[in-house]
Amino acid sequence: MSARKPLTAATADRHWLYENSVQNVDWETGFLDRAYRRVFRRPASFLREDFCGTAALSCAWVQKSARHVALGVDLHGPTLAWGRRHNVSPLGAASLRVRLVQDDVRHVRRPRADILAATNFSWWTFKTHTDLLAYLRNCYRSLRDDGMLALDIYGGPEAQVTQQEERRCAGFSYFWDQAAFNPITHAYRCHIHFAFPDGTALRRAFSYDWRLWSVPEVRELLQAAGFAETAVYWEGTDRNGRPSGIFRPGTLGDAAPAWVAYVIAYRRG
Ligand SMILES: C[S@@+](CC[C@H](N)C(=O)[O-])C[C@H]1O[C@@H](n2cnc3c(N)ncnc32)[C@H](O)[C@@H]1O
Repeated sequence: MSARKPLTAATADRHWLYENSVQNVDWETGFLDRAYRRVFRRPASFLREDFCGTAALSCAWVQKSARHVALGVDLHGPTLAWGRRHNVSPLGAASLRVRLVQDDVRHVRRPRADILAATNFSWWTFKTHTDLLAYLRNCYRSLRDDGMLALDIYGGPEAQVTQQEERRCAGFSYFWDQAAFNPITHAYRCHIHFAFPDGTALRRAFSYDWRLWSVPEVRELLQAAGFAETAVYWEGTDRNGRPSGIFRPGTLGDAAPAWVAYVIAYRRG
């Protein structure tokens, strides 16, 4: 889709809008590559992307190196079909190194991956300890020895309030809507809306029914799932105190009103 024609609710494609407002897959593949090398002292080749949606991360991964292969797993056939058409096919020969599977992430175990990534908080779809633990156990079994699981997470007091945040993107506005949060259960309802210069909007282009998990909770469940070692990659700040986009393993996070981090778990050989 060209960003040159003014976008409107009638012409815009919600997957294109999502990829161009939420995801930064070039950065993320670099981050995963570096985090893997840092611990295992060799490059990873096989990435599995759980909850892959349009498989943008898988496609960026295979474009990074001719040694890279990727497997994307998602339940939703139409979203996978969009990804095949708009992301996989344009890769040409490299498309042969991406495979997409329509299945529940808890049911896929083979082939075993070097890196398993579940990004944009998708693993929050599992709302009980039992369900999240079952998923994490499956992740452990899906990794090679010397394998790494990467889960992103966000939090801070601002995560627990109902609020809507607008961000301007090229040709449209993105809205993150924290519509409901229940402090008793941590049930969390969020939506993404898009608005266009002509005044039209795509309300609830995406909706999420999640549990807001915390870092210590997921680390404890990772340990119970077999991951003896976990790390938290916390984002640093620049000299003005703003998030720097540089994530490093650490044990002391700053009590920011809102933060994003990665919880990384290692399966050692
Ligand atoms: C928030 S989107 C994530 C898209 C993409 N991974 C990203 O990083 O932005 C969540 C995706 O998870 C998929 N999904 C939800 N539950 C699933 C499950 N149990 N197994 C496989 N896919 C699932 C949905 O179909 C949806 O495409």
